[in-house]
Amino acid sequence: MSTTHAAPDRESLRDLAVSVAAEAGELAAKGQAGITVLDTKSSPTDVVTEMDRATEELVRARLLAARPDDAFLGEEGGGEGGTSGVRWVVDPIDGTVNYLYGRSDWAVSVAAEVDGVVVAAAVNVPRLGESYEAVLGGGARLNGRVLEAPPAVPLEQALVATGFGYFPERRVQQARVLLEVIPRIRDIRRGGSAAVDLTGLAAGRCNAYYERGLHPWDWCAPGLVASEAGLRLGGARSGPPSNDLVIAARPELYGALEALLAPLGADTDG
Ligand code: IPD
Ligand code: CA
Repeated sequence: MSTTHAAPDRESLRDLAVSVAAEAGELAAKGQAGITVLDTKSSPTDVVTEMDRATEELVRARLLAARPDDAFLGEEGGGEGGTSGVRWVVDPIDGTVNYLYGRSDWAVSVAAEVDGVVVAAAVNVPRLGESYEAVLGGGARLNGRVLEAPPAVPLEQALVATGFGYFPERRVQQARVLLEVIPRIRDIRRGGSAAVDLTGLAAGRCNAYYERGLHPWDWCAPGLVASEAGLRLGGARSGPPSNDLVIAARPELYGALEALLAPLGADTDG
């Protein structure tokens, strides 16, 4: 992406993300009752509903109406160009399986990258009445109040959230990893939405999170909320978050979890 443009104001990107995510969350919440599977994606368990597509279309239309020169990457519709240096990374419904089953743990995630760095984010969790927002270097908020993740706990007292991919072979390896993790921690939670897991971690509903197989739309917005709330966010082999692995926790706990996961091949399919 070109760097010749003037850097946009991060707060205005955040404000746009927050209002569009709220409108999209309202639309998706209205459409949840009676929703059915429209199609499958990477595997027969990886489903999409008409509301995933309608919600992404609303987000895309609102963002590009406000900022026509920006690029856009959405889980359902893929990417399209742009010349401003800003790219929006969007998951219209993170937690589609929860959405399909009438559950409450799903979210609309909207992140703004400038030259590849996530600088502003909004995660709207309509059924929980929660609007998370963050600006790089400017902190995170939940429903307007400053959000700071609780202090670390020792690994053996940690409630750890995780998730499983849509490919059977990957799930077998994820279960092998879990066999070694679960005796060494307080317990595991599998909530069904990476965005709700990561923002919930920032809000103190667990102590750590790890998952293999996520995509940028899964972690960009909630990852900025998590890191701005004081959590360390990273990936495999001390690198940044990636499809191989995402880990998040307070720094002291992060190190212990990373040391537990690395020899288990948590960033591999076994
Ligand atoms: C999924 C959720 C789930 C995670 C999967 C993701 P989707 O996103 O975040 O918690 O375990 O890896 O793909 O498909 O519901 O948008
Ligand atoms: Ca999704």
